[in-house]
Amino acid sequence: MCGIVGYIGSRESVPILMGGLRRLEYRGYDSAGLAILNGQELSVVRRKGKLAELASALEEQLPSGMIGIGHTRWATHGVPSEENAHPHVDCTGRIAIVHNGIIENFVQLREELQSKGHVFNSQTDTETLSHLVEESYEGDLYEAVRKALGRVRGSFAIAVISVDHPEELIVARKDSPLILGLGKGEQFIASDIPAVISHTKRILVLNDGEMARVTREGCSIMTLDGLPVEREEIVVTWDAEAAEKSGFGDFMLKEIYEQPVAVRETLRPYLLDGGVFMGEMPGLSVDEIRSLDKIVVVACGTSYHAALIGKQVIEAWAHLPVEVDLSSEFRYRHLLIGPGSLVIAITQSGETADTLASMRIASEVGAKVLAIANVVGSTATRQADGTVYTHAGPEIGVAATKTFVSQLAAIYTLGLYLAQVRETISPEERSEIVDELGGLPNRIERALECRSEVGVAAQTYAGCQDFLFLGRGIGLPVALEGALKLKEISYIHAEGYAAGEMKHGPIALVDEDCPAVAVATDAHTYEKIISNIQEVRARGASVIAVATEGNEGIKNFAEHVFYVPRTLEALSALVAVVPLQLLAYDIAKVRGCDVDQPRNLAKSVTVE
Ligand code: AGP
Repeated sequence: MCGIVGYIGSRESVPILMGGLRRLEYRGYDSAGLAILNGQELSVVRRKGKLAELASALEEQLPSGMIGIGHTRWATHGVPSEENAHPHVDCTGRIAIVHNGIIENFVQLREELQSKGHVFNSQTDTETLSHLVEESYEGDLYEAVRKALGRVRGSFAIAVISVDHPEELIVARKDSPLILGLGKGEQFIASDIPAVISHTKRILVLNDGEMARVTREGCSIMTLDGLPVEREEIVVTWDAEAAEKSGFGDFMLKEIYEQPVAVRETLRPYLLDGGVFMGEMPGLSVDEIRSLDKIVVVACGTSYHAALIGKQVIEAWAHLPVEVDLSSEFRYRHLLIGPGSLVIAITQSGETADTLASMRIASEVGAKVLAIANVVGSTATRQADGTVYTHAGPEIGVAATKTFVSQLAAIYTLGLYLAQVRETISPEERSEIVDELGGLPNRIERALECRSEVGVAAQTYAGCQDFLFLGRGIGLPVALEGALKLKEISYIHAEGYAAGEMKHGPIALVDEDCPAVAVATDAHTYEKIISNIQEVRARGASVIAVATEGNEGIKNFAEHVFYVPRTLEALSALVAVVPLQLLAYDIAKVRGCDVDQPRNLAKSVTVE
């Protein structure tokens, strides 16, 4: 998830573009750049690192010009560096482009363009677009962009300028957001409203499959097929601060609602034609996969809960024994791993000290090491033999939400890939899982609809000092994650527990002051979890249940029921966690807690 901006008008464009990028830094901040057009001169300034690096470069070299584009990057392909930063230019240096999204077929397009003599200077998918526009250019920039986009598979929000067309800025979008800000004699474009709101509140939203030619006087919108589009402008009432959170009260809530997009963007590069495509996974050949004797998954916190789900999924689909270990324990354990083992490190930040140490130790004893990470170029991705990326975009809230569901999406993909290579899954089962994976973004959307029921429960139980979270099977890691969410943002003592384990001691804790949250979605152990619910109810506990939509019977055993859509049992964790995230958020808000920056916590634990 990156941020793009553009300006065309009669004012100097650099301060306007930099102001816009500052408002979009929450979308990505590993590198940034600008391209400014001034007559026949196209100046491109790019820097690795935060926006401040670009700002100081501009103090030394301030390009002048009243049309320009800018970009703040969250790397998806190619490590954060100056040469990988946007804007990217074509061979002539006359066309510049900024892009937010993922070009899935960039490898074959790059090879085709290189065979025609195009010279690439970066590792990014985006640079393919600048050479594709150059290749398609026959005097009309708009048409060249449209033709180029016709070759592209993936998601994009782009802005393009050219020395040969100093009076226009071309934009287009598919599966990545893009808005136009309408001014008098000047126009603005951006990934999101915060970037333009200090200049204009008149907004035109570009829809998927649309592009626009933007001039100082205004814009004309057309479909990518060239059909004209009429679009009503809207006038927003947000202030700039609220706009950064897209109108949500906190980054955490915004990120909970970004989960459908995060999961879709994570799955996008891997799901193809009813199967899973990993290409030749770097660092893990097909033969190595076939000869694996054991997998160990190491992680911390929320990522550890994702690892517990990974165990169940990989064992069920790929028939490989999987151990899960806390990184802080693994690194000091007597290890029974070696060259035939695969260690998977799950870490959204890619910087967690205990997980990095565990990766190093695994490599030292000859195990293959894979990372599942959300930050391109992070230490974990450089230590690993290969990385399966999540594409959740930057997560500002300390409590992990969209990165967690994106980790699950990556794990499902990896588990399916291992099963595909080891031929431990039938084509029918594989295509059933792939179909269900494709439907997950919509199921998360629907799971978010339980918000009002969650709010009622939050008001009722926000004063409690103890909570139990109970689950079985795939529901147990979900219960553990729900307990962690509540603990870390509301400071309430919450314990996640295997429901079948309660009678071995913890049930002594149960009374009317200790509500029990039960993950009771449809599963082969459903009847068992109902018995456990009855055990705690018999001792006075109020019960909050997460259940599969259509299950009316559970209302006999619970004071509150949060319904989620039906999906495969193995995938149900991804939807069942959503109400628990919302419950933790709402209770914390009732208690007046700072949900984005909870006390004592850091977003990335880079120390032991
Ligand atoms: C989760 O809400 C916490 N912020 C924390 O447990 C986190 O999951 C843990 O520190 C691991 O972080 P990582 O995924 O970046 O390695």
